[in-house]
Amino acid sequence: MESIKLRKITSVWILAVFVLFIVSIVLGILMRLNQGEIIKQNSVTFYTNMTTHGLTMIGIWFVAGMAAINYLMERYVKTSYTANMIALVLTVIGVLMFWATTFIGKFHAGWTFLYPLPFKVMWATWATPLFLVSLTVLGLGWLIWSISLMTQILRKYSISQAFAWQHFKKNPSVETPPFILISMITLVGVIACLLAAVVLIVLFFAEFFSNGSFVNDALLMKNLTYFFGHTIANEMLYLGLAVIYELFSEVSGTPKWKTTWYVAVAWNCTLIFILTAFFHHLYMDFVQPEGFQIIGQLASYLASLPAAGVTVFSVLIAVYRTKIKWSLTNLLFFIGVAGWVIGGLGAVIDATISNNVVLHNTLWVPAHFHTYNAMGNVLFSIAFFYWFSTQFTENNIKSEKLTMATLTILLIGGIGFLLAFYVGGADSVPRRYSTYPAEFTSAAPLAVIGAIFATIYLIAILIFFFNISKRCLKVLSSPS
Ligand code: HEM
Repeated sequence: MESIKLRKITSVWILAVFVLFIVSIVLGILMRLNQGEIIKQNSVTFYTNMTTHGLTMIGIWFVAGMAAINYLMERYVKTSYTANMIALVLTVIGVLMFWATTFIGKFHAGWTFLYPLPFKVMWATWATPLFLVSLTVLGLGWLIWSISLMTQILRKYSISQAFAWQHFKKNPSVETPPFILISMITLVGVIACLLAAVVLIVLFFAEFFSNGSFVNDALLMKNLTYFFGHTIANEMLYLGLAVIYELFSEVSGTPKWKTTWYVAVAWNCTLIFILTAFFHHLYMDFVQPEGFQIIGQLASYLASLPAAGVTVFSVLIAVYRTKIKWSLTNLLFFIGVAGWVIGGLGAVIDATISNNVVLHNTLWVPAHFHTYNAMGNVLFSIAFFYWFSTQFTENNIKSEKLTMATLTILLIGGIGFLLAFYVGGADSVPRRYSTYPAEFTSAAPLAVIGAIFATIYLIAILIFFFNISKRCLKVLSSPS
């Protein structure tokens, strides 16, 4: 049973994620309005907003997933409140530092801060080192948190049990809950990519302080950057999936999901292949050894298909011809899985080398990753937030009806916003342009359509925010 302290800190995470999400959506809408020529921002403001939006979004949906698995993990093992608190404090400090570099220092190298961009200083000179320090602070907090959760799992389960290897054979003597298996697989990936970020930051600092006597290898830096960036962006989705495996059956009133041999095999495959799928970001780097490009394509299929296959299978089996108790929580899970699969298909299309020649760096890229984030992972986390908030406060019917209406608004807004990206991508509109060249006639009108639908999506998020945060505030004000 979780402690009151854990309930309170989880409430703080939820409130912080929601507030930062709303600000980041507004930045996203401003970007689309600028691309649609409805407002006029100078390019520094546009790229500052893009950098703030991108990194904040990745950060908040990662911590949202971590806060959710930390809360649910207490059902199986004792977790460390101190590690959770350290991560919270360092996240707040890291985000404030990062926002200072973008909003005050005008740092705008994009969330991928691809080498050597951070050294091509077109912003305050202090902004580059402070940006790197902010990443260090965030990475340190998240590393401590991830290692702590993994250590707690390994205190109760042996390594082979944590990875559910005993499930490869029939009738295992010990059962590993799917939640523990997926959390373990994900934490390994998270720790690996955070360690890569440490190496990356050390290399950046080494060059920064060397006064020109040390210059990094650009290809190595790009490999490290995408190993970190691609992996964390994918692992945060898997945190959401761990939550689904734990809660979907519970809220639906159906038997609890178990680890079967195919669930164990699929998630172990995911562990291996997710760490090499990032090579698909380097298809256009022709100096990259060709073998890595082939690994990139194969791993992109192998990382996504087994996990998606077993999850979709499990969800469909759970709902097909079964009377289940639908609530906002499992509806959000269900729609989120659909968003994840559709975005995943978009990603696999782009990760196929022959297609990438056409789609590389077009709006197809934000199209697919916004699909599995804005209509996938975000919904997994909001489902958890909603479920969590209704555990400790009474749930009246009226608010239930309102939340169902909110879901419809969310769907309309989300689908319209994403379609504007997909159609632009299919029409070869490039990504990351603050204003589009006149040759791309469809680009500006599509951006306006994107902004309108994104505003509808924002309305739904605001309603969820007021509804859920009210209950979280009650949890916070309850006696300890
Ligand atoms: C309705 C909500 C959202 C809006 C309006 C929005 C809007 C945008 C826009 C306009 C861009 C720039 C696209 C371009 O390359 O031209 C962008 C980039 C990006 N967005 Fe979103 N977005 C939203 C939600 C999200 C979510 C939920 C995530 C979660 C991870 C996210 C992560 C990113 C990232 C990582 C980038 C790339 C930034 C870069 O290239 O440095 N966005 N978004």
